[in-house]
Order: sequence, then structure tokens, then C-alpha cells
Amino acid sequence: MKYVIGVDLGTSAVKVLLVNQHGEVANEVSKEYPLIQEKSGYSEQDPDDWVDQTIAGLSDLVQSFEGDTAEIEGISFSGQMHGLVLLDENHEVLRNAILWNDTRTTKECEEIYERVGKERLLEITKNTALQGLTLPKILWVKNHEPEIFEKARAFVLPKDYVRYQLTKKLHMEYSDAAGTLLLDVNEKKWSSEICRILDIDPQICPQLVGSHDKVGTITSEISKVTGLSSATCVFAGGADNACGAIGSGILKDGKTLISTGTSGVVLSYEANGNKDFGGKVHYFNHAVPDVYYTMGVTLAAGYSLSWFKDTFAKDRDFNELLADVDSVSAGSNGLIFTPYIVGERTPHVDSTIRGSFIGMDASHEVKHFARAVLEGITFSLNDSVEIFRKNGKKIDEVISIGGGAKNESWLQMQADIVNAKVIKLKSEQGPGMGAAMLAAYGNGWFSSLQDCADEFLKVDQIYEPIPSNVKTYQKLYKIYQMVYPSTKELSMKLMEFRD
Ligand code: XUL
Repeated sequence: MKYVIGVDLGTSAVKVLLVNQHGEVANEVSKEYPLIQEKSGYSEQDPDDWVDQTIAGLSDLVQSFEGDTAEIEGISFSGQMHGLVLLDENHEVLRNAILWNDTRTTKECEEIYERVGKERLLEITKNTALQGLTLPKILWVKNHEPEIFEKARAFVLPKDYVRYQLTKKLHMEYSDAAGTLLLDVNEKKWSSEICRILDIDPQICPQLVGSHDKVGTITSEISKVTGLSSATCVFAGGADNACGAIGSGILKDGKTLISTGTSGVVLSYEANGNKDFGGKVHYFNHAVPDVYYTMGVTLAAGYSLSWFKDTFAKDRDFNELLADVDSVSAGSNGLIFTPYIVGERTPHVDSTIRGSFIGMDASHEVKHFARAVLEGITFSLNDSVEIFRKNGKKIDEVISIGGGAKNESWLQMQADIVNAKVIKLKSEQGPGMGAAMLAAYGNGWFSSLQDCADEFLKVDQIYEPIPSNVKTYQKLYKIYQMVYPSTKELSMKLMEFRD
């Protein structure tokens, strides 16, 4: 049997998947690392934690592998997007990585608009200046930590740094480069114009490669510590959402994905880069050569649920917490949650907005709150679905992956709120599976990613919308939409009281 490894470098943990030539997950290891949040709005990680935990995960995987390690032919990566890793001339890390969910860069976003111009930025990058993207973070370090920035000779994204440590080769691939706001997305090259206008040395932008391109093999040192063969081929990989899309078969027009990781996304395949969504959703290069995807992002999807559990139900696991949400009817007995606990991205680009529970009643129990959290996250995802629908997309079927696909009640809720058929795959690994598929395709096992998807991905269950719930949620969604404008000013005023 032949195998590939998909490394899914997430925000809370790295998941390492061993996948055989039929797409079956033979083994899976997960290793956590901490988030460093010094202030409200800050979110950092130590890049060496990613490397150490990836190596630990690979070692565990190989240790319990009973075959010949030469059968593990390739490895590829899916990575949390946008995180800034700054490297010096020896490729040493200069500071903690500033992550995708860090919102300290509002001023730098304004600076980008002032100097580059909003329209020109959208023309080149097909995206708007959002706090989470990489370019504002580069400017933040330049403006606030000039002594560090002076030493920077390269910047990479999270999985690029891990891949560098496994191969000692430095690259970035298009799907993740698209999320930096420095890539000319249609031309697939770094924008010398944006670099010039913002006084950024273009030399710090690494060499670009395709997602299934082979960038090398693992070093002999990594081979020794992990037990992997030093002939194991390393393929570039992709942004986590691009990989999630590949791992869910979002490979042709009309295909839509809902993914609930720490963030939540609604993602739609685009055959070309010519459509205009006016910057309301992201427009990125796919990890499939020369095609694209559009995407709306809920900053705290799974994170809202884990925050809720850790804060109010620490001694229960997720299954216990969600066990009785079905005993509460749609609408959580009049309780609405907005998941803006770290600000929001789609449809409200707002780093100061914060979440709320509206309608708390003395009769409410933890189960009502838990259901309201699931509903609030899904309403926020529905905001993105609505943008797509308003732009003429037909969404009557979505594939659901991530935490939201692990729970039957939540899957049904997604069907009811989005008013579309929701499909759960046999393996809802998403990004890790997508990374493994890039390694399988890169290795020449299949003639296309679609062929690989036909072999690897199988439907498990389909959830049809329940008409009475759809009706209830359509009414409730209108009220949910009123919460943002009603709490915007309150959130702003509360800012001065946050640490
Ligand atoms: C996408 C985004 C998040 C991260 C999560 O633009 O910021 O979905 O990719 O890892």
C-alpha cells in the first residue's frame, strides 16, 4: 500500500493525517499549541511551537506505522492563512507570528487605502485591506518595531515556515500568497507596485510555487527525528481554506463549502478571476492550478463554541455540552447570540464590534445558550451565503466540514438556516485531506485533483431543510441582522474598558 501525509497546521493544533492510496485515513495525530494574547485584539503564536509539534506528530505517526516507511511517498501542508512570520538573513524567526485573527492593524489598513488607493488595491489583489491579512501586519511591524523590521530579509506564512524547517527550502505558494494583499492575483506574481508605494523591499517576498509542486525532500535530520524516509517528497500545499475546498471536492462551478474551524467560512468555486464582488468577499487563487474561489469569513465560529464551553461549561466535553440542544426548539426560546467575540470580518468588517446574547430570560438554561451559540454562528455563516445569493449564485447544496459536521443537530441546523441541502462526507477532515490529496496528485498517483477526489471522497449523509424550521429561522435571521447595527455604537463605547 502507498501512503501520503497531510499536515493541517491550524490555530489551536496541528493535525497530521496518514492517508492511503484509496483516501482512507490510516492514522491521525493531533498536537496542540498555545495562543498568545497579550492584549484585546492581539493574537500571536511562536512559530517554533508549530515546528516542534509537527515533528512530534510525525514521529508519533511513524512510530505506530506498521509498514515500510518508504511506502509513505509524500507529504504536503494546509496552513492557517495570513499569519506573518518574519525571518532574518539566516532565516531565524525575528518575533512571534502575528495571526489571521489579530486585529491590531486598523491604522495600517487605513494607510494602505491612503497610499495605494482602495480601487487600485482591489484591482491588483482582488481583496480589500482587512486587519487579518498579512500586508497590514508587515506595516505594523515596520511602524511599531522598526528595529525588528530592519533585520527582516523574508516573510512567510505559517505552513511555509514549517515546510522550510522540514526541507530547508523557502517558498510560498499561490493560494496562501493571495491572502497577503501583496499578490497580483490574476497575474500570479508579487505586486512590485504595492511594494514600491509602501516602501517594502520586494526581496522579502519569497519565491512562488504551485500547491502540488514538489519543493524537495525532507532533510536527513528530520528523517532521523521523525523516522520518515529521507526520500519522502515534500509538496508545497495550500491555504487551509483552499485545502478544505479540495478535501471536500469543491473543484467545479456550483460547488459551495461551509467549514467550521476556529474561524468559519463559506467558500465557493470560481472558474476564473473575472467576477466582481466589490471586495465584499475574499477572492483568492485556489490550490488547484489557475482557478479561484470566493469566500466569506466568520472570525469566531468554532472559537465561539470553545470560548463558551471553556468559560461556562469547563467540566463538560463538547458532546456533553451539545447533547440536549435538540430538546430546545429552533430559536433557543428567544435567545440570540452574535459571534463577534473577536470582532468580525464578513459581512461587517469591524474590529471593535463584540458579541452579545440578546433576550436572556430567567428560564434559560445552559442548553438554551449552547443552542443559541450554534444558531448565532450559523446565522453569521448565512450572512456570507446571502452575499453569494445576492450576486446571482445558486446555493441549494453545500458540503459541511469541520466542527459543524461532527454534530448531527448542528448539521440539520445548517440545512434549516441556510435553506439548502447539507452534505456530510465520510471523511470530514477537509484541510488535512486536501493537503494529502495535493501530495497524492503531486506524486503522480492521479491525472487530476478531480480524479483524486473521485477516489478519495465519499458522501456519508445528506440533511434536507425542514420547512417549519426554515420558516422560524427566516424570521429569526431578520432579528439577528438587527443586532449588529444596534450594538455597534455600544461596542465602540465599551472599547476604553477593554484591557
Ligand atoms: C481566512 C482566514 C481564516 C484562517 C483560519 O481568510 O483568515 O479562515 O485561514 O486558519
